[in-house]
Amino acid sequence: MGHARALQAGKRVLLRRPVVKDEAEFLALLRASKTFLRPWEPRPPPGLKPDSPERFRRMLRARRDDRHEKLLICRREDGAIVGYMGINEIIMGPFQSAFLGYWTGAPHVRRGYMTEALQLALRHAFRTLKLHRVEANIIPRNKASKALVKRAGFTREGLSRRYLKIAGRWQDNERWVLLREDWKPRRAT
Ligand SMILES: CC(C)(COP(=O)(O)OP(=O)(O)OC[C@H]1O[C@@H](n2cnc3c(N)ncnc32)[C@H](O)[C@@H]1OP(=O)(O)O)[C@@H](O)C(=O)NCCC(=O)NCCS
Repeated sequence: MGHARALQAGKRVLLRRPVVKDEAEFLALLRASKTFLRPWEPRPPPGLKPDSPERFRRMLRARRDDRHEKLLICRREDGAIVGYMGINEIIMGPFQSAFLGYWTGAPHVRRGYMTEALQLALRHAFRTLKLHRVEANIIPRNKASKALVKRAGFTREGLSRRYLKIAGRWQDNERWVLLREDWKPRRAT
């Protein structure tokens, strides 16, 4: 497809790093998903619109310090960008942990893309990045996201009070975690 190499590929989607020429398509997907994502996604840093070119450029730059693995979820059939998966704030040493952030573009939800993408991301996190723990912080009423991590075998560790500022408010978040020793690699089908 002339894009960056896939880091992980499943049956229907693959994960790859973003490249400069993805900008227009990525921002168009964000724009089409604005209302859908607003209740669930942390705001971009002050002064940055959710669909601004700078947001995309930051995503490209984020990797330089090896602390973030920001990936595009692409449909294998035609290469279209259908979502985003971030393995963020990677801390090694005795912690070997990171935080997941993800969304599916509004036109592409409920087709199983994120279920597959999460399996691929876990494979990357545990096998390639050698992480021991991945964590997803989820607003309690986000049923879709909780169903997703539950299916992947995550455990709910507790409620973090006023943990993330989302949609303008400090919101409690459930902390869902998967440890490498609890991970059962599945075929990403
Ligand atoms: C959570 C999210 C990533 C799921 O992506 P997706 O590609 O639609 O997920 P999949 O199609 O792989 O999984 C579908 C399954 O998730 C669950 N699910 C998806 N949307 C749901 C909803 N609105 N309500 C309840 N369950 C839902 C169901 O179990 C569903 O299976 P079904 O369609 O057979 O019932 C997507 O809804 C999203 O981007 N939400 C907004 C951003 C967000 O919340 N990010 C996570 C922040 S913690």
